Amino acid sequence: MLKLYDLQVIHERNPLGIDEIPYVSWKLDSDWQNTMQQTYQIDVTDERGTYCWSSGQKADGRNCFHTFEGLRLQPKTRYDVRISVTDSHGESASESTWFETGFLGKRWEADWSCSPFRSTKRKPGFGKQQPAVIFRQKCKLKEKPVKARLYATAHGVYEAMINQQKVDDRSFAPEHTVYAKLLCYQTYDVTDAVRAGENTLDIHVGDGWYLCAATRPQMKKNDHRHAVLFQLEVEYADGSRERMVSGEHTLVAEGPIRSADLFGGELYDGRIEADQDAWSWKPCKVGNYGYANLQGQVGAPVKPKCSLAPVAILQSPKGEQIVDFGQNMAGRVRIKIDVPAGGEIILEHCEVLDKEGNFFNNIMSAGGVGKGCDQKDVYISSGKPVVYEPHFTYHGFRFVKVTGMKVTSESIRAIALSTEKEELGTFECSDASLNRLYSNICWSQRSNMLSIPTDCPQREKAGWTGDMLVYSKTAMLNEDCTSFFDRWLKNMTCDQDEYGIIPMVTPNVGSYPIIGKFSHLSNGVKGQGTSSGWGDAAVIVPYSMYEVTGDTEVLRIQYETMKRWVDYIITRCKEGTPKGCTRDKEVEQYLWDTGYHYGEWLVPSQNKNGIDMKNLKQIMASSSCYTAPIFGWYSVSTFGKIAAILAETSGEGTYTEDARLYADQAEKMKNAFCKGVITEDGMMPSDLMGAYVLPIYFDLVPEQLKERFAQKLVASIEAHDNTMDTGFLGTPYLMDSLVKIGRKDLALKLLWQRKSPSWLCEVDQGGTTIWENCFGYDEQGNPSSLSFNHYAFGCVADWIYRNVAGLDTDTPGYRHLVIHPEPDQYLTCCKRTFMTEQGLSSVHWTLEDQNWNLEVEIPCNATADIILPNGEVHKVGSGKYHFACVIGD
Ligand code: BGC
Repeated sequence: MLKLYDLQVIHERNPLGIDEIPYVSWKLDSDWQNTMQQTYQIDVTDERGTYCWSSGQKADGRNCFHTFEGLRLQPKTRYDVRISVTDSHGESASESTWFETGFLGKRWEADWSCSPFRSTKRKPGFGKQQPAVIFRQKCKLKEKPVKARLYATAHGVYEAMINQQKVDDRSFAPEHTVYAKLLCYQTYDVTDAVRAGENTLDIHVGDGWYLCAATRPQMKKNDHRHAVLFQLEVEYADGSRERMVSGEHTLVAEGPIRSADLFGGELYDGRIEADQDAWSWKPCKVGNYGYANLQGQVGAPVKPKCSLAPVAILQSPKGEQIVDFGQNMAGRVRIKIDVPAGGEIILEHCEVLDKEGNFFNNIMSAGGVGKGCDQKDVYISSGKPVVYEPHFTYHGFRFVKVTGMKVTSESIRAIALSTEKEELGTFECSDASLNRLYSNICWSQRSNMLSIPTDCPQREKAGWTGDMLVYSKTAMLNEDCTSFFDRWLKNMTCDQDEYGIIPMVTPNVGSYPIIGKFSHLSNGVKGQGTSSGWGDAAVIVPYSMYEVTGDTEVLRIQYETMKRWVDYIITRCKEGTPKGCTRDKEVEQYLWDTGYHYGEWLVPSQNKNGIDMKNLKQIMASSSCYTAPIFGWYSVSTFGKIAAILAETSGEGTYTEDARLYADQAEKMKNAFCKGVITEDGMMPSDLMGAYVLPIYFDLVPEQLKERFAQKLVASIEAHDNTMDTGFLGTPYLMDSLVKIGRKDLALKLLWQRKSPSWLCEVDQGGTTIWENCFGYDEQGNPSSLSFNHYAFGCVADWIYRNVAGLDTDTPGYRHLVIHPEPDQYLTCCKRTFMTEQGLSSVHWTLEDQNWNLEVEIPCNATADIILPNGEVHKVGSGKYHFACVIGD
């Protein structure tokens, strides 16, 4: 029987309050093998059951990213979407889903309510901010409504409560965005929360990103005040409606949170909470902030991922009481407190302990980053027993030093936070350390996907673009990141400047714009700061999304942003000539070889003792001589491919023309690289490992030099005692470049390497997340001051899934899978599952003596080539299969 499941609108389940043109996706399930979708039909009706739109029956096998071309949406309306499908066995199935629109650009009736309390520019550090405020409004409802929606947003971050109950368990609404241009509002279904008679709406607002010193947005006008905008709209059984809106009549009071900062932590005074009668309620001022930057939230909110009990409660040599949760993460603690009034409970967070086992704050402080990262929460007791969890902060930690009370394993939990996303994959094999590496990668991903992709949860919490360029494909193979990335890419578009530059951090906030501009200007380049490999995320992240899911929508939506970025690269190539350059103009004009670039970043051999600040400039130059021209070419050629994809799917002429132009430009850049960067006798301007990895991987080596490059790469690995020596930008391509030159054995050697630097060395040293730098500890065992929770080097998971488990594809969106596990001397079994855009795929192989067994699952609407170790190839359609062979015959 054919069934439809996993129906999604804009890659979310039943999104509320969307201001987007929606698209819909679904999956097929069937008892039959070889099931392919033959036709589909989409019908849309509104909440009154009125027919709105139909695609008509289409002979089309695509089951995802279908837009409703020509559908005219009404604001604040629920739409039902019915999908009907027929398959290759003549069966049919239908299923429905729904979504609800938001304001769709229509004017808000509410005014901004703005706090009248004294407000100044925030300072970094614990306890240095003004109190969080509570906005309150009451309303009387004539009866219990049949439908109630709360639309809300804030300057700061907020938690909304109706009748003292939180409206949901999200944190940090309204998300981290480029506020001057994009501020999300949230829509809540509060039908169950409101009642007949009096209702109280409280919106508790803390500083969040909007007001925080380290993440202050680039805005001409910022009055540093907490503010809210909300509309509570209800509908009664008789169809009549009522609305309650924010404005000057909204009251506001300073509450028990005396200060809160995303980096510094929160100070909560329970005595103030207990004495609510003493709160001083004041009417709000009306804020003249306008509505132009408002948009219904895209992408899921930040939610608790899980709660962890302590694995140990330690007493350090210094006498500190330290709770070990056994897992590094982003989040905060929930603690039962029962101490006399005025008692202070201090919670200090860290990722690692020092060599002796004492509390250790590993926050590198350089160039302003890391300033004020106190990671400390303090609760002052009212004398009543409470369960306290901070509201407007989060930390990167595994250990918590607790002062002021005795903790037991029952009294404290760590609450891991992350943007809510569905997990798409699993990985398990016969080796415990590889399983731990997989878990570490997943934990670093979770910890660093908190509203935006961040570099690390304890130091910068910043949307470094390059880190995600490196990691985006792996991210997509672990969790459903589509709508999360969609939101972040919108930020990127907002942050693009008049030159087309995508900054190195997005949202480009706090001190980053100044640091960026300065590094750019000191290299004689105009516009905001960027770097090759970082700004290129504008093209590479959407393309990775497309590769994994087949998402052409993101390519269409981000098209202009990508185009402006690649045009910037092309201009930089043309206009920039390095001092003393002797290259032929014909070659030089196609090379990106001037400006500020990070290079590969954190190449192990160059950063043994943390980031080598003294020699940073020289270190960056030693690899940017190849990363800049290569990533410049990579963006331009990928953009050419994207134009060709859109030309094919939409048939639009401009795409066809762009496809030709940018492919041509990319070809010239490639030739320039071969002539201008690689010398005739096959030398690279630098002898780093990445200098060979990248040209090999990207096919940038002239035919006659291929052998030489392969030898150079192997020699470089041998010279490093069979350890990896690539930085952020080289590592995603290291293992594949070895497969490409026929040395998968060497790639496996690197994967299974236990000497430092290597992935498993981190595991052996007790890592529970992926480290910023492979050297977490020095030779004496002292922890580094860098972060222990950066996902970039975790990009190896993508290679492991394809090359160890053997689950791969040669088609965007996994429409055609290539299953080719190869037994090796390291494992006796391995299992990988991945929820593709078509449905669940899985590979499970075992090796016992010489008997090799393989269980495979191929989802409906996909086909696969299954290549056995004995060379047999089976071409199959959807279904479950078993294969066996004897190895070594
Ligand atoms: C961040 C990185 C980032 C880098 C750029 C660091 O401080 O943590 O992950 O990509 O700076 O240089």
